Amino acid sequence: MKVAVLGAAGGIGQALALLLKTQLPAGSKLSLYDIAPVTPGVAVDLSHIPTAVEVKGFAGEDPTPALEGADVVLISAGVARKPGMDRSDLFNINAGIVRNLIEKVAVVCPKALVGVITNPVNTTVAIAAEVLKKAGVYDKNRLFGVTTLDVIRSETFIAEAKGLNVEDVKLNVIGGHSGVTILPLLSQIEGVTFSDEEVASLTHRIQNAGTEVVEAKAGGGSATLSMGQAAFRFCMSLVRGLQGEANVVECAYVDGGSEHAEFFAQPVLLGKNGVEKVLPYGEISEFETNARDGMLDTLKGDIQLGIDFVK
Ligand SMILES: NC(=O)c1ccc[n+]([C@@H]2O[C@H](COP(=O)([O-])OP(=O)(O)OC[C@H]3O[C@@H](n4cnc5c(N)ncnc54)[C@H](O)[C@@H]3O)[C@@H](O)[C@H]2O)c1
Repeated sequence: MKVAVLGAAGGIGQALALLLKTQLPAGSKLSLYDIAPVTPGVAVDLSHIPTAVEVKGFAGEDPTPALEGADVVLISAGVARKPGMDRSDLFNINAGIVRNLIEKVAVVCPKALVGVITNPVNTTVAIAAEVLKKAGVYDKNRLFGVTTLDVIRSETFIAEAKGLNVEDVKLNVIGGHSGVTILPLLSQIEGVTFSDEEVASLTHRIQNAGTEVVEAKAGGGSATLSMGQAAFRFCMSLVRGLQGEANVVECAYVDGGSEHAEFFAQPVLLGKNGVEKVLPYGEISEFETNARDGMLDTLKGDIQLGIDFVK
């Protein structure tokens, strides 16, 4: 398995690279790319950790050497939020960064599974799809917006609120990855009931958890360590699927033929070709139905912005 991380010298990239260096299957290759000159040094640093994962680092303008032969590409290159910023405020800078990197992916490793972390994910995934379509190599089963952070935050907050063992809390988070487009399906958690107030306040906290971190870091960036863990979990699921493991399921923002929007986060079964099957997200409550329907204009607008950017 070869995993490439683009944006590898950043807060998310370094946390993710550390987890991958320590936990990718033996014999894997990890390749790190960032425009920051420190990137080869990050790779040297990681290479001193005694695991059977080979690490190489590349800096400069061209990600090609990092992408050669990649099975999985994770993209966290770009700028992060500061207090007072919405994810959409990142569009002007990050849209171009994602477009340029995906143009290289399309040429160098068009069969790789690509996980986009760079915000605004609702839009950057649409940009990636358009670039791949233009290059004639688009395969909707191989492109993912990484929304796992919304899932792990939900698991944590629900376990805390209800005094549960966090390992027992499993749920789907559907929609997209910003504000009202993040919809945790609390009604589906087995063995727990929530009052209407609890549903409203937990949903609100999960939707605004990114801002909670941005404000607490007071200008020092957004979630990096929890996002590193989330991207690591998602990457390991991609790898397990590629290796033929059965029943690997994660929620992700995909072009999955959803009746709601061109891209929609929902559970997907992962396999040797990426998405094996888009799974139904099941029965939802009245609150969730209203929240789902209420988010769609925002989500579709975010997607259209990405399509228009490339066209
Ligand atoms: N999907 C999610 O749930 C989620 C969660 C948190 C943050 N994010 C997003 O992830 C992105 C990265 O966040 P971070 O905290 O790691 O930021 P960061 O500023 O710490 O790191 C970003 C890195 O990208 C690099 N970079 C910039 N332009 C590049 C290019 N053209 N090619 C290669 N590398 C380039 C920078 O040099 C930097 O090292 C942001 O857009 C942030 O909003 C997503």
